[in-house]
Amino acid sequence: MPTPEPIHIRFSLNGKTVEARVAPGLTLLELVRRQFSLTAAKEGCGKGECGACTVLLNDQPVNSCLKLAATLRPSDRVVTLEGLADDPLMKRIQHSYVEEGAVQCGFCIPGMVVSSYHLLKVHPQPTPAEIKEFHSGNLCRCTGYTKIEQAVAKAAAARKEGR
Ligand code: FES
Ligand code: FES
Repeated sequence: MPTPEPIHIRFSLNGKTVEARVAPGLTLLELVRRQFSLTAAKEGCGKGECGACTVLLNDQPVNSCLKLAATLRPSDRVVTLEGLADDPLMKRIQHSYVEEGAVQCGFCIPGMVVSSYHLLKVHPQPTPAEIKEFHSGNLCRCTGYTKIEQAVAKAAAARKEGR
């Protein structure tokens, strides 16, 4: 069988318009890691089950291992953790994770904090149930989740106090 022709795509990546030529089967995760050297999002399961690959697509968290890069449109806005590095809310979340001891091996954390960020954008003062629900797509094999949930609650409280 002949090799399929690469597809030209254009979209917004961390606030900048980018272009790429991609194989039809290339995932968004592979694209950002290999062609744009954005390696925060990780491949855990590669099947949409672990959330280690979570990025924001048009302000919604998605499993980038399931999204085909070729389906990206010029109006699509992809934000990886790197694109949030200077965001005060993300900095607050990351500090709270560290303060609460919510990071062990760290493999799940890039995806986890993107979900935390999305939660606190949608629900600045989340209930415990909302914290659980918004992280339900992110698996962590180390922490047992309690410290992660405490960290998210702490970040919400700090934000409310203007810290
Ligand atoms: S690597 Fe994408 S959900 Fe696990
Ligand atoms: S800290 Fe190890 S998987 Fe979450």
